[in-house]
Order: sequence, then C-alpha cells, then structure tokens
Amino acid sequence: MEKILVRPNGPLKGSVRISGAKNAALPILAATILGTEKIVLEDVPELKDVEIITEVLRGLGLKIEKDKNTLIIDPSGLNSYETDYELMSKMRASFLVMGPLLARLSKAYNSLPGGCNIGTRPIDLHLKGFNALGAEITMTHGEIKAEADELVGERIYLDFPSVGATENIMMAAVLAKGETTLENCAMEPEIVDLANFLNKMGAKVTGAGTSTIRIRGVEKLTGCTHQIIPDRIEAGTFMVAAAITGGDILIDNVITSHLKPVIAKLEEAGVSISTDGSAVRVIGNGKLKPIEIKTLPHPGFPTDLQAQFMALLTQAEGQSSVIETVFENRFMHAEELKKMGANIKVIDREALITGRSKLYGSKVRATDLRAGAALILAALVSEGETEISDIYHIDRGYEKIEDKFKSLGSDIERIERKM
Ligand code: UD1
Repeated sequence: MEKILVRPNGPLKGSVRISGAKNAALPILAATILGTEKIVLEDVPELKDVEIITEVLRGLGLKIEKDKNTLIIDPSGLNSYETDYELMSKMRASFLVMGPLLARLSKAYNSLPGGCNIGTRPIDLHLKGFNALGAEITMTHGEIKAEADELVGERIYLDFPSVGATENIMMAAVLAKGETTLENCAMEPEIVDLANFLNKMGAKVTGAGTSTIRIRGVEKLTGCTHQIIPDRIEAGTFMVAAAITGGDILIDNVITSHLKPVIAKLEEAGVSISTDGSAVRVIGNGKLKPIEIKTLPHPGFPTDLQAQFMALLTQAEGQSSVIETVFENRFMHAEELKKMGANIKVIDREALITGRSKLYGSKVRATDLRAGAALILAALVSEGETEISDIYHIDRGYEKIEDKFKSLGSDIERIERKM
C-alpha cells in the first residue's frame, strides 16, 4: 500500500504552477456527451477522478485520446445510456453524466453514486430538476432510471445551491425545448467554466456565476477547444503551505478573483499576500493570529479548504473557530490532527482550535481528499516523520503533489509499505 512520508524541512520557498481544476474538468468531461464533433480540452489535470470519468465516457461509446494534459474527444460514437456500476460506485461526480445522457438520448440509467454519503438525499436536487424538465424518475435496488419523451424548459428553484445539481440540471436543459430558469443555483467559478464550455459548443446559457441561470434550449451542440480554469483549491492549499511554514511561495496560474475568501482569511491571520496578474505571492512571517471561518457556498469560504485551514490554525496563537455549514460530516481530519498533537474540540458543526500546538510526526490516515492535504500541511511543521496512509484519496484531486511540494523544498516521498 502506498504511503506518503513527510519530514519537516523549514520554510517552503520557490514557485509552483497550479493545475487545471478538478471540479471544472469533471463536469466539462461529462458535458462532452452533449457534443457531436471533435472536442479538445486543455489543462486537464492527471488525476484518479479524471481517469474514472474518462472510463465512464469510453463505456458510453466516446473516443478519447490523451496527450499529457490535453484530451481529444470524439463524442459522435455515443451509443449507451447506461453507466458502468463499478465505475459509478467509485466516484460521486460520475453522476454528472446523468443530465447530459438524458438530454442526448432521452434516457439515463445509473447506479446510486459512490462516496461516503450513499443514499437518496445527496442527489434529490438533481432528480427534482430532471423531473421538473419532464423526466420520469424510477429508483429500484440502487439503480436510478430517468426517462423522458421530451425535455421542456421550466423554472426550477434549488432548495440549496448545490454545485452538482446546478451543473447536472444545466446540462440536461441545454437541449430542452424552450427556456429553463434555474434559481438559487450555485455560483462557483467551475459552473461559469462549464457554461462557457457549453456556449462554445453552441448552447445558450446566461447568468452563470450569479444565482439565476437561464438556458435557452438549442437543437444540437457541436465541438470546440477549451482550456480548463486553474484549480483554486490546489492554489489555496499551497497558499496555506507558505503560511504554515513561514515560507515565501509564488503561486502561478491562478485567477486571483477566485481566491478572494482565501486571501481575506489568510490576511486576517497575519499572512502577507500580493497579487500580480495570474500569480499570487504568499509570505508567512511565522506568527499567525487566530481567526474565525465559516464555510459557505461560493463566494463564501470554500468547504474544500476547511481542512487545510484547520491544520494552519493549529499554529495560530490563541483560539480559532471553524464552522462547517456545507457538509454534515466533514471534521474527520480533526481526529487525525489531534493524533499529531493539535488541540481541537468539535461540537456539532463547529471546531474550536487552540494554538499554538507543538505537532509531532505520527501515523495518520487521509480520511478524504482535502483531509489528506491538511495532514501533509501539518506534517511540514511537525517534529519527526509523518506517515500518511490511504493516500489514494489525495491522488483523486492533487496532480503530482509530492513533486510540487519537493520543488518548494519539502522533504516528502511516496513509498510502498506493508500495512
Ligand atoms: C462539489 C465539489 C466538491 C465540493 C462541493 C461543495 C465537484 C466534483 N465536487 O460537490 O469538491 O466540496 O461541491 O462546494 O465539483 N445536497 C443535497 N441534495 C442534492 C445535492 C446536494 O442535499 O441533491 C447537499 C449535499 O449533501 C451537501 C451540500 O448539498 O451537504 C453541497 O453539495 P453539492 O454542492 O452538491 O456538492 P457536490 O456537487 O457533490
């Protein structure tokens, strides 16, 4: 089983280039089902999750060639509305093929998506949206079937601004008859990237990035070339790496407006930040002030950086608070950080972190993708060696993570070790 070993090696210094965003690449890959001509996607990160969705698409008849970070996709061979059960169970985001399949073939058969939260609740908003567009939904023995004679545009209000539901419904609506209005939808930058991609292929989507998206249905979508936006969560992770080690890192290939909540919170904690075009420079001076964080849908503080900030706040002088409002059960990393010496008290959806704690290298487990990143960050300032297991979670979302940390001066390696 592969593990990551980290030993402290002082402040991180240098520059790092951010990869294309996983959370933009996944829905855009799903949306290639909607195309009929050649699609070229650039800056697609080489990640486990991308591999999985690529396999899902191949299983549906799409032809995909890969040249490093460029994917060339021929969607014209789409010949199935049924996704592979094994692949679906590996990744929640594979459910994003449901909307495009429904739009193209009027049918989509899928198993319930994988991940830790298996059940009906986490996809109810997707299904409600498909239903509003005219699809009939049936669920039996873990299989979901959506079928429609014809999809017709509707006014749809989302009870919660779910990122996945916004994307899935948007993709289902692009070929529907008439206009769809999606209200209280998610406003994440990745949704804007998806809308831009769809529009390049001939869709008529307006308002992405605001809470109301309008989609005027068109007859068909064609093909295009599109570059995936930079990953704001990877960027935020390296910003925390500079802050926690008291380092100086130039983080390149970012869209600084996507990083506003991250920049604001790091500055509040006493970290120096300057931006210049598509780069952000983060300088930690070794002294961190405690702060309060509440995760919220965009443009609020991203839940995907909550764990990394919790690691950071173990090194702030005094008590910090982190409130998680987006996911019910996203504090598993707190237990792992405590094993390393952190002082964290979790009460319901709030974690109180009292610092500064001396951290010690320990055997810890990446309980999920961002939790894994948080453990690497904590390990950078822990005494002795940290051994992180279950790193397949980290590989789902961080491209070449050890190489990038190594280039900044980290003592980090991936090893094959028996349990
Ligand atoms: C996406 C991101 C993930 C990020 C999350 C929130 C991708 C591939 N993943 O996940 O990294 O952490 O946004 O920013 O883009 N919910 C329901 N019913 C639904 C759908 C969601 O109750 O039908 C709930 C979820 O259980 C959760 C909340 O809404 O509590 C947010 O989920 P959502 O925004 O849908 O996240 P994902 O799209 O799964």
